[in-house]
Amino acid sequence: MSKSLQAIRGMNDILPEQTPLWRYFESTVARLCDNYGYKQIRTPIVEFTELFKRSIGEVTDIVEKEMYTFEDRNGDSLTLRPEGTAACVRAVLEHGITGGGQTQKMWYIGPMYRHERPQKGRYRQFHQIGCEVFNLDGPDIDAELIVLTWRLWGQLGIRDAVKLELNSLGTSDSRGRYREALVEYLSAHLDKLDEDSQRRLKTNPLRVLDTKNADTQAVLVDAPKMADYLDDESRVHFDGLKARLDAAGIPYVINPKLVRGLDYYSKTVFEWVTDKLGAQGTVCAGGRYDGLVEQMGGKPTPGVGFAMGIERLILLLETLEQVPEEISRQVDVYLCAFGEAAELAALALSEKVRDQLPNLRLQINAGAGSFKSQFKKADKSGALYALILGDDELGQQVIGFKPLRGQGEQQNIAFDALAAHLATCVVQG
Ligand code: HAM
Repeated sequence: MSKSLQAIRGMNDILPEQTPLWRYFESTVARLCDNYGYKQIRTPIVEFTELFKRSIGEVTDIVEKEMYTFEDRNGDSLTLRPEGTAACVRAVLEHGITGGGQTQKMWYIGPMYRHERPQKGRYRQFHQIGCEVFNLDGPDIDAELIVLTWRLWGQLGIRDAVKLELNSLGTSDSRGRYREALVEYLSAHLDKLDEDSQRRLKTNPLRVLDTKNADTQAVLVDAPKMADYLDDESRVHFDGLKARLDAAGIPYVINPKLVRGLDYYSKTVFEWVTDKLGAQGTVCAGGRYDGLVEQMGGKPTPGVGFAMGIERLILLLETLEQVPEEISRQVDVYLCAFGEAAELAALALSEKVRDQLPNLRLQINAGAGSFKSQFKKADKSGALYALILGDDELGQQVIGFKPLRGQGEQQNIAFDALAAHLATCVVQG
């Protein structure tokens, strides 16, 4: 195929055979968000570039080198959203829905865009589901967000494969004091730092803690620790969160080097990581961003949230073989009809059945075909039962009912009794 007719590298089709798993995942999360009192928000995929520069931070990897930015026909600089938090902040400000200290608990789902080097679990178009909460500053809501994700892992059957890492970046005051101490320490060991860390030391020193370079990691062993610089407010908040996680029985590890790649965080930061997916092991991440709304021009409004990467969680479900069997079955009943008269009767009959059983997944054979070929298609469809209508059955106003997966004998059912019979043997979703 010529190159121009292929999908863009790092941007994937999700094929019909994959979408049942996606829909299962998405509906599980959506139901959970509803149950915890979060309402969905939908924002545009494209925003002014300025929004992401000002919120995510000018000297982050995302803004420096990963954004899909272009000029539109008006000459405005626009960007495909690399994440969802910035747009939520913009939307609550624009519509005044956090005014007067009003609480907002929202969730979103959709594609995000980052020009990263594609590999397993890392794509240029990927999908996130996230939650954001505004105007609640206590650790109780941080705990709720984590509890919600923990419940999700339980429902998906992947609890044993994920681990919660937790840290506090403190208030901006305590972070400022820590940054100073870290810069002073690292500057004294400048020659032992890798090139990237030397650059980050000047632009975004906390990100040095994130380094993968072994020499720099060795220098960091004796570096000042963030925990020693937390002010009372930050420490009380962090202790409050830990106490709640303990009470809820959620295991976690404190990772003092967890700093996150976006600049807007304060106090709580967390990541759910797995060792089952190779290098791209963070399946969900988030934290508190108490200064962001104000920084974007609003009144001081605390915020906290997370986002999970859908592709990574789908990969994890597949890797752990936690894909429920029933989700891949798309058809309950497959109707085979032979000859034109039977086809016409089959259409009328199946519409009547659909009226009575709106949730029944009934597929009618299309494209005619011999008994053998229609039967093969019925079997391949995954249906539990085949319905068979030929001239003989039509003459008697009955339809053949044949279990395809070994549950019982074939029998004839009167047209009038078909819906009632199907209702007894097919579990309605
Ligand atoms: P993030 O850590 O940049 O945070 O992304 C959250 C999650 O999205 C990651 O943990 C990962 O699962 C997934 N993800 C990120 N990049 C890719 C990629 N290139 N390919 C596949 N999956 C990816 C945020 O986006 C913040 N907005 C999270 C947040 C919400 N913090 C507070 N509220």
